[in-house]
Amino acid sequence: MTRVFSGIKPTGHLTLGNYLGAVRRWAEVDQHRTDALFCVVDLHALTVDHDPARVRRLTRQAATLLLASGLDPELCTVFVQSHVDEHARLSYLLECVATDGEMRRMIQYKEKSARERERGGSVRLSLLTYPVLMAADILAYGTDEVPVGDDQTQHVELTRDLAVRFNQRYGRTFVVPRATHPKVAARVMNLQDPTSKMGKTDDVGPGIVYLLDEPDVARKKVMRAVTDSGRDVVYDPEKRPGLANLLEILAACEGGNPEDLSGVYESYGALKKDTAEAVVELLRPVQERHKELCADPAYVEGVLRLGAEKARAMARPRVDEAYRAIGLLAG
Ligand code: TYM
Repeated sequence: MTRVFSGIKPTGHLTLGNYLGAVRRWAEVDQHRTDALFCVVDLHALTVDHDPARVRRLTRQAATLLLASGLDPELCTVFVQSHVDEHARLSYLLECVATDGEMRRMIQYKEKSARERERGGSVRLSLLTYPVLMAADILAYGTDEVPVGDDQTQHVELTRDLAVRFNQRYGRTFVVPRATHPKVAARVMNLQDPTSKMGKTDDVGPGIVYLLDEPDVARKKVMRAVTDSGRDVVYDPEKRPGLANLLEILAACEGGNPEDLSGVYESYGALKKDTAEAVVELLRPVQERHKELCADPAYVEGVLRLGAEKARAMARPRVDEAYRAIGLLAG
């Protein structure tokens, strides 16, 4: 059976981008069709300036939201990265296969380290090695497919390179995975700045819809989205990125294509209104289930405990094999 692995970082509140680009598909498609693992990657949240209590809180919240989004522990494995030591164990071995040049070429490293320096802060070494830990997450499980948004493509490409290199040097140990992306909304853009991604850590501004935004808040953010000064409502991501983003969000909510919405709307106002309502309706069941789950924290903890046990049992044999293959004496 196809093995799927994907993860989400608890560095901020989950956004509409996370949901449309990744989480919804995990719940609607991947968990039914494959042997899937979904992980809250808390170790990755330590790569930038962080508040320990906040990371702990966001980790619990992200796990709760994954379940609220429909991930079913009977169908898939949901767990927290730091509960399974194999990720960090394998990451070190992969650091011995990756090069520092490769790490420095990663777009996200370049962007995030530049931002960190601009703020006058220092860059953590773990930010540089971030993609190696991500490769370990994926490779530890013999993953075939990694369902992610567009922004993770380069990281999955690196994972493939490391798997191939390790296999060539030390014998076939890892499956070479591939990224999969949703057809629509693989990169949801910031509503106030449609040339940049809607990212959970960027700011708390009005351009980001959070999964837990109250209906009125989400509605207002969509209604105030930046568009251009044209009049006709056509899908043209290059020339009309703000408009294209709204069409893309609406199409994703309704399960259609943004191209098919070209020419359907007479005014930007009407499009915004429908998009706002579609987003509110999309989030409503997730928010309701989230509220129920928050009232039962023992259930969520139980799911994570069991998930970690299952994940550990799946990862350990392959990571042990990698230890032997690379030249370490069996203990
Ligand atoms: P993260 O936490 O930034 O995002 C989680 C998932 O949401 C997708 N995503 C988006 N999709 C569409 N539009 C957006 N604006 C948007 N923002 C985020 C991301 O592509 C991702 O699929 N490095 C990863 C976490 C990770 C991981 C892994 C993923 C660590 N190990 C192993 C897969 C496999 C990250 O930062 O995702």
